[in-house]
Amino acid sequence: MNNLDLSHAKIAVIGSGTMGIGIAQLAMVNGHSTVLYDLDREKTKKAVEGLRQTFAKLVEKGKIIDKQAEQALSRLTIADRIEDLADVELVIEAVVEKLEVKQSLFQQLAEICRDHTIFASNTSSISVTAIAAGISHPERMVGLHFFNPAPLMKLVEIVQGLKTPIDLCQSLKSLMLAWHKIPVLTKSTPGFIVNRIARPFYAEAFRALQEQVTTYDQLDYALKQCGGFAMGPCELMDLIGQDVNFSVTQSVYEAFFYEPRYRPSLLQKELVDAGTWGRKSKQGFYHYDEKNQYLTFQPQTNVTQSFHADVQVKGTWAQCPHLLERLGLSRALASNENIIQIDDIDLRLSQGESANLQYLSRKTVLMDWHHDFAQAQAIVLSHNHLCQADDLAKIEAFFAQYQMYVIWVTDHPALLTLRTIVLLINEACEASLHGIASMEDIDNAMRYGVNYPKGPYQWMMQLGAEYVLATLNNLYALYGEEKYRASLYLKQYVAKQQSVTAGSSKNLTKCA
Ligand code: NAI
Repeated sequence: MNNLDLSHAKIAVIGSGTMGIGIAQLAMVNGHSTVLYDLDREKTKKAVEGLRQTFAKLVEKGKIIDKQAEQALSRLTIADRIEDLADVELVIEAVVEKLEVKQSLFQQLAEICRDHTIFASNTSSISVTAIAAGISHPERMVGLHFFNPAPLMKLVEIVQGLKTPIDLCQSLKSLMLAWHKIPVLTKSTPGFIVNRIARPFYAEAFRALQEQVTTYDQLDYALKQCGGFAMGPCELMDLIGQDVNFSVTQSVYEAFFYEPRYRPSLLQKELVDAGTWGRKSKQGFYHYDEKNQYLTFQPQTNVTQSFHADVQVKGTWAQCPHLLERLGLSRALASNENIIQIDDIDLRLSQGESANLQYLSRKTVLMDWHHDFAQAQAIVLSHNHLCQADDLAKIEAFFAQYQMYVIWVTDHPALLTLRTIVLLINEACEASLHGIASMEDIDNAMRYGVNYPKGPYQWMMQLGAEYVLATLNNLYALYGEEKYRASLYLKQYVAKQQSVTAGSSKNLTKCA
């Protein structure tokens, strides 16, 4: 199959629910003759009425002119019978998320449509390979996974089933680019890119809560403030619905044959069992009023005393650009370790270690990573048993000089933000190891599918792969759990970097 030009293709959208309506709108706006079909005729009628209202609103807001709305609506027809779809060139299916329903629908369509009609499924979790099985010409089946709301969300995952030729994926990629989307290519594996790589964002939040490290609202605050995320994991899960997120977690876990990395949390199940599903039930982690407003954590200033202490810096603090400038400190004593010594207290950037297990003889405070130390308003810290109340007050006073609020959490290896980010990176590396998607597509998928401030590989470049690996190795050594095992892809990446560096320093030595 060569690259097909689908820019004028007649498109059938099957299913006129939430996703089908949005996809039909996109097809119509982008100039395609569009046929909408649903088993439930009432649903289709409502969908058409909904589309009329949407276009009227777009005109009202000045996003399009009257004529464009009229033209878009004139491209829409309704199919009363599935047989009416015989002449379409591309089918985009958005019916219920059940393998048997999708399979039997495509089997029916295979009888009705021409052999070269392209079959695309908007499935969010079912194997495209499995949907294709049993239809004639299974090589025409591809996943086209839009995100909700489809007209607004930029990302589309193009999913290659076992028999889907890459050319077909490329043709759909061109079409999605023409629709001003950001298409990414992925293999048909559980969760595709986004729903797989995002798992640690939720799992590590539950982990921290189960280990009583902090409260749900402080955790959200920390990930927004220090990680740069638009929403914290707890408020995001409340928005998605605890029940929906639990069922995605379960389906990914089962689809990976119970891979421990994806195991759901007991706390997650408790929330679901209790009916605390988030915004839709007005109670999840947070309580929601009629306007869906809820109380978030508000940092207070925690300074109680003025700061007087001897401060010395060791190491380059390379993972934290701007921190030393912000703290008015110069890079001083050369050291492999990053330490700011404040009297007899060692303040260290966390590398996944436990303050209590690894620092037995010195007062030690471990610091979480912050995405932008130049602007940081708060930082997350933990400490070992040797630190007393006056030591903690001294640390708070130190940061208060620079208008930085301190959030203390219990001794939690890699704390909150660093831990979440290294696990997202590790998950991306596993996906790369298995050839699921390119690094660039993985980054785009996470930035545009779940609005992360950066893609996992962009974080890896910022933090340094060696530091990410060291952090994971410490986590794995402490927990001994499979989920913290560093990906072979990451290990090989670091080894390659080290051999390149060693090679170039050898060359330098030779030259000298
Ligand atoms: P929905 O429940 O809003 O709509 C499904 C529609 O399909 C209904 O109107 C139903 O009458 C119709 N339908 C069911 N069986 C049919 C059949 N055999 N033939 C024709 N029509 C049939 O569902 P929604 O949320 O739009 O989801 C559709 C698909 O999109 C699912 O596969 C879902 O996993 C996927 N998806 C959903 C997202 C979401 O946020 N809702 C996001 C991305 C993908």
